[in-house]
Amino acid sequence: MSGRYDSLFRQSIDDPNAFWGAAAEDIHWFKRWDRVLDADAPPFSRWFVGGETNTAYNALDRHVAAGRGGQIALIYDSPVTNMVQRFTYAELLAQVAAFAGALKAQGVGKGDRVILYMPMIPQAVIAMLAVVRLGAIHSVVFGGFAANELATRIDDARPKLIVSASCGIEGQRIIAYKPLLDAAIARAAHKPERCIIFQRPMEKAALTAGRDLDWDEAVAGAAPAECVPVLATDPSYILYTSGTTGIPKGVVRDTGGHLVALRWTMEHLYGLKPGEVWWTASDVGWVVGHSYIVYAPLLYGLTTILYEGKPVGTPDAGAFWRVIAEHGAVSMFTAPTAFRAIRKEDPEGRLMARHDLSKFRALFLAGERCDPNTLEWAEDKLKVPVIDHWWQTETGFPISANCLGIERFSVKPGSATKPVPGWDVQVVDAKAKPVKPGEIGALVMKLPLPPGSLQTLWQNDAGFKKSYMTDYPGFYKTGDAGYIDADGYVFVMSRTDDIINVAGHRLSTGAMEEILANHPDVAECAVIGVADPLKGQLPLGLMVLKAGVSRSSQEIAGEVVQMVRDAIGPVAAFKTALVVERLPKTRSGKILRGTMQKIADGETYRPPATIDDPAILGEIGDRLKGAGYPRKE
Ligand code: COA
Ligand code: AMP
Repeated sequence: MSGRYDSLFRQSIDDPNAFWGAAAEDIHWFKRWDRVLDADAPPFSRWFVGGETNTAYNALDRHVAAGRGGQIALIYDSPVTNMVQRFTYAELLAQVAAFAGALKAQGVGKGDRVILYMPMIPQAVIAMLAVVRLGAIHSVVFGGFAANELATRIDDARPKLIVSASCGIEGQRIIAYKPLLDAAIARAAHKPERCIIFQRPMEKAALTAGRDLDWDEAVAGAAPAECVPVLATDPSYILYTSGTTGIPKGVVRDTGGHLVALRWTMEHLYGLKPGEVWWTASDVGWVVGHSYIVYAPLLYGLTTILYEGKPVGTPDAGAFWRVIAEHGAVSMFTAPTAFRAIRKEDPEGRLMARHDLSKFRALFLAGERCDPNTLEWAEDKLKVPVIDHWWQTETGFPISANCLGIERFSVKPGSATKPVPGWDVQVVDAKAKPVKPGEIGALVMKLPLPPGSLQTLWQNDAGFKKSYMTDYPGFYKTGDAGYIDADGYVFVMSRTDDIINVAGHRLSTGAMEEILANHPDVAECAVIGVADPLKGQLPLGLMVLKAGVSRSSQEIAGEVVQMVRDAIGPVAAFKTALVVERLPKTRSGKILRGTMQKIADGETYRPPATIDDPAILGEIGDRLKGAGYPRKE
């Protein structure tokens, strides 16, 4: 309906109390809120103050109470184990209540933190819901992170208990999780009292006596637990994400605002109806997995698919079409990199023809900029709307999208369409002054932020203010740069900091530089994100060796690659480090990372006026060319 978006968007900005107050009627409250929005202490915004609710109640119990217990809530589809398992809402509720009972028996209660280090198995979803059922706070750590990253999160969140599994499966490989967990606990200063380990049949883990409990035994000995009402403003989870240093930021999500915003998006943004089948191909360790594999679809009464596999290789590039057809998914959400991987293996889309995709209505992409080629390929092959939408761990739900449930706009390739109601997106210059339509600047959001967006950083209000709220007073800084055109379409072009996006995974090059700099032979270094036809970006290390080092460059490069893998994890995909004679710098000594990145990508560049020695750029150009940059498809 023409004009519906404009009117809803305006109401969300001009009268957020009325807009979100109405959306909150779709959530079950044990006690109604006193106030919708409390923005009295900016830059903080608190939603549904005084209200009491419970996330698990809204995701499970209320559907069962309404007579929908027989509907499938969760489909676990695992090509790597040849398993498909279905859980009705009633079955999932029973398993969540049972595991919540096990956690409660170990002393977990309201406000306690529980870290989950889990592969993509139903027990990951069950554990998340069980934690919030008790009013405790989970922090899921992505399985592709190394022990060191897990240790950092253990020390920051100080969990009472950790839930993990014996192993994950990556394609054909079994990745033992328990040794990583043990190494992380050994390294961390904070020691959890208990670990509960889910033993997978393909690899059993040795349990540490006195600390570790077997999942099945823990459940067998406990009584199911009921939902614990919590305040709407109480945290539901902490999710760590890359910042500009090696220390990750603990994004804190509230409870009431989270429920209201996520449920609203399923209807208005994704345009779904309760009972339909929805699939997000991501990982529960990322925000996309939290919001759109677990919480939003269950809050809205959908059937959600949990997929333990890859877009290619499990077994082939037709895996996505098989899952969509077999389970009757009407829409799916993934990262553009997954579609680039499929296109590379099956450019004509031949494998698609083997599957009945007639129920499939729309494809949603996010996590990185969607290049127009991938968008057009997906549109051409699937013949359904392909929606690029922009968001961040911090925002919890999309900032900018083509809201199919409100009003469908025509797609402009390269744009994430228009701001989602609730987000007053603006483009500003360095002085926080709005720029003209079409001009590039910093993408910011005017405060207050909508419900479900980050509340603060875990026990670090000062870090929250400094990271997001200080550079542009009155606005939230996204860290992204881009423009809004004359039609109001948002184009997200690049980051303004050292964050890169590798296969839709957010990583900090600064964190990698810290690791390289620790190698005894490295005098100075830079890590830049270079364009990659499959993963969007890949990190590339450039190192100057200390005078007198005579060992082979290849050997040293191999060592730093291993150091990054050991410290951050395989997910960093740091595979290349080059030794160079010198690094280009400004006269004040700032390394020109942006200029090197343009050289590596074969883009035109203008050396800054403050460059110390322009001749170094030629040297770097030759070195990169010799190493095969720019990378082409
Ligand atoms: N546990 C342990 N290791 C993991 C892991 C996990 N949960 N997830 C990834 N890894 C490892 C991989 O095995 C790989 O290790 P390797 O260097 O030993 O091969 C490394 O981390 C990089 O993984 P990934 O980025 O997934 O690359 P890939 O080459 O295995 O697959 C794609 C490439 C494009 C197929 C894959 O990235 C993909 O499916 N992306 C989908 C997008 C997505 O899920 N985005 C999340 C945000 S929406
Ligand atoms: P994460 O917090 O891991 O979800 O990563 C968030 C970052 O990914 C954003 O700040 C952007 O830099 C990038 N991003 C996510 N979605 C998009 C998109 N649709 N277009 C462009 N960049 C995106």
